[in-house]
Amino acid sequence: MPELTWIGKNKVVTHHLDVPYRVLENQYTYGKNADGTDVSSSENMVIHGDNLEALKSLLPMYEGRVDCIYIDPPYNTGNESWVYNDNVKDPQILKWLGEVVGKEGEDLSRHDKWLCMMYPRLRLLQRLLAPTGAIFISIDDNEAAHLRLICNEIFGARCFVADISWQRTYSPRNDSKGIPAEVEHLLVFSKEPGWQPRKLERTAETDTNYKNPDNDYCPWTSSDAFAPGAATHQGMVYAVQHPFTGELIYPTAGRCWSLGQEDILSSFSGWTEYELRDIDDAEKRAELCGIPADEVRAGVRALMLVKPLEEAQADAQAVYERGPWPRFYITSGGKGGVRRKTYLDSVGGILPSNFWDHQAAGHTDAAKKEIRAIFDGRVAFDTPKPVRLVERVLAIATDSDSIVLDSFAGSGTTAHAVLNANAKDRGNRKFILVELGDYAETVTAERVRRVIDGYIKTTAEESVLFDRKINLTSLKKGSQVFEEANAVAAEATQSGAYTKVSKPKLYTEVTGKNNASVSLRVTATVEHEEKAVGVPGSFAYYELGAPLFVQDGLNSEVPYEKMSEYIWYSETSTPLDPRGYNEAHKLHPHYLGKYDDTSYFFAYDPESATSLDRKYLGTIPTECAAESYVIYAETCLLDEKDLLSHNITFKKIARDISRV
Ligand SMILES: C[S@@+](CC[C@H](N)C(=O)[O-])C[C@H]1O[C@@H](n2cnc3c(N)ncnc32)[C@H](O)[C@@H]1O
Repeated sequence: MPELTWIGKNKVVTHHLDVPYRVLENQYTYGKNADGTDVSSSENMVIHGDNLEALKSLLPMYEGRVDCIYIDPPYNTGNESWVYNDNVKDPQILKWLGEVVGKEGEDLSRHDKWLCMMYPRLRLLQRLLAPTGAIFISIDDNEAAHLRLICNEIFGARCFVADISWQRTYSPRNDSKGIPAEVEHLLVFSKEPGWQPRKLERTAETDTNYKNPDNDYCPWTSSDAFAPGAATHQGMVYAVQHPFTGELIYPTAGRCWSLGQEDILSSFSGWTEYELRDIDDAEKRAELCGIPADEVRAGVRALMLVKPLEEAQADAQAVYERGPWPRFYITSGGKGGVRRKTYLDSVGGILPSNFWDHQAAGHTDAAKKEIRAIFDGRVAFDTPKPVRLVERVLAIATDSDSIVLDSFAGSGTTAHAVLNANAKDRGNRKFILVELGDYAETVTAERVRRVIDGYIKTTAEESVLFDRKINLTSLKKGSQVFEEANAVAAEATQSGAYTKVSKPKLYTEVTGKNNASVSLRVTATVEHEEKAVGVPGSFAYYELGAPLFVQDGLNSEVPYEKMSEYIWYSETSTPLDPRGYNEAHKLHPHYLGKYDDTSYFFAYDPESATSLDRKYLGTIPTECAAESYVIYAETCLLDEKDLLSHNITFKKIARDISRV
């Protein structure tokens, strides 16, 4: 498989393993219970800090548990000012640290820096993803090709799902250099090969092709009566006599009837009486199957009218007028060919394609309006994604109980989409957001708060008050047209009916390959205030806390419970269940619990050295008895024989605590 190399790659491929493990410190929890009291805890998280460390901190609780990841990292356009700051100890990389990544011409290593930044984060994200999960990454052409290659390396090329084109704008600039970009990428990889998206709900728009002209039990659309595979399904290649004209209808060359002969007979019998008859047509059937006549299956009979044509025709005409028509119906009022009905209730939802248009998934202008609406008209964040884009991701990649992670959270669109999705299907999806910027509290968390509480949103309705095409005739009366436009604008302003009235302005519209039309317009907007109702939800806000390890020892500032979470996870690769931990703790102050018939003890005391000896063994109650024991302590005074006889593995603090 082709692999991408770049400056610094060899220094970052295992960097995720060196990232210090830091505990997450809960700052506050926000939200109300149904009875109006404040919630005391929430599984939704907003974490302030660098996602490299935050993702590492999430490993003990969330490794292999996240169902859907949506990320929207810096695109490395050369216009944003992101900083490469990972603590990789390499002279080349030390030189970059803290440097604002500049434009292509000024900073030849900007792609290297971006790849060094993304690689270890994607490695951690891959570990967090559940076996049935998928990651969706927004990106544009600056890094799309590089990103796809490193994702092949990290997730596996067989886990590539799609490179979706999202129509980010519906009016690309006509004065751009080169080919303006109307779409950007949404790269999708899954944890395991063979990931299948959920189908999207049908909408009135997607169902416009389903009609019910014959008063059937449900709307239907017309589809081909034939299917491929004539040569392999020779028993399904035969003639059916047309109920109106008496002509023989055969499948087209290479195709066969799309249902078994019994179903076809039953369907055509809805028009008039039919019977199976041998009509000696082996040559014709062979031709359709593309094989010699002496090789075609013998004894395949045709469906023929029982009654004389006139009577059959009268039956069929009556069915046509009365409805509903049989499933294999005759087009053009009985004069046409045969088609098959596909009923709306049999088709299920819509499988998403790799083109998401702005109507279905929103666009960047809408996203900015959303932000303004939430933040009292203020553009609190410059590059938000529309909620509909993330809602669509959730629709195809989550169920009502999924865990959703966004480690480049920005304005918190992902949390907004999760809350909306839960409100829609009364679900219990959880979100985890990570944001490095100082605005993690004032924008990211604040948006979630406002969505939960509801906010006053201002919507603007624009109308065109004056619109005159500029052509030779209007140019001759140029000043008169301009005065008319000015008068309309002045009158509208005086009327006080509008929030804003524009001055007369020229608008150019591209109408064809080489054509454009110009018009003089006056537009006006009326702004309405309306309340966006609150969406039920809560979240807990975290800062990255102290590192677990300092030099070669454990950091005594870290609470014992947080250390226990880490030890348990490093031993069992599963999260420490808080209830199980509390129960275990009641039995013995160092007991973490039992897993696979092994009992785990973590004898740590920041005040004094701990020792595994006979006296210690005597403190272990019988409820903790297991096939084997793993005991962490600072020293061990038991000899090999003692350890073996009790099936105890001694692990020295901090030397034997593995780094995840
Ligand atoms: C393009 S924005 C995401 C916008 C977001 N999708 C939205 O709809 O608002 C990228 C965000 O990632 C954040 N970011 C960049 N590097 C980060 C890091 N190392 N850890 C956490 N957040 C980071 C930036 O501060 C920025 O807010």
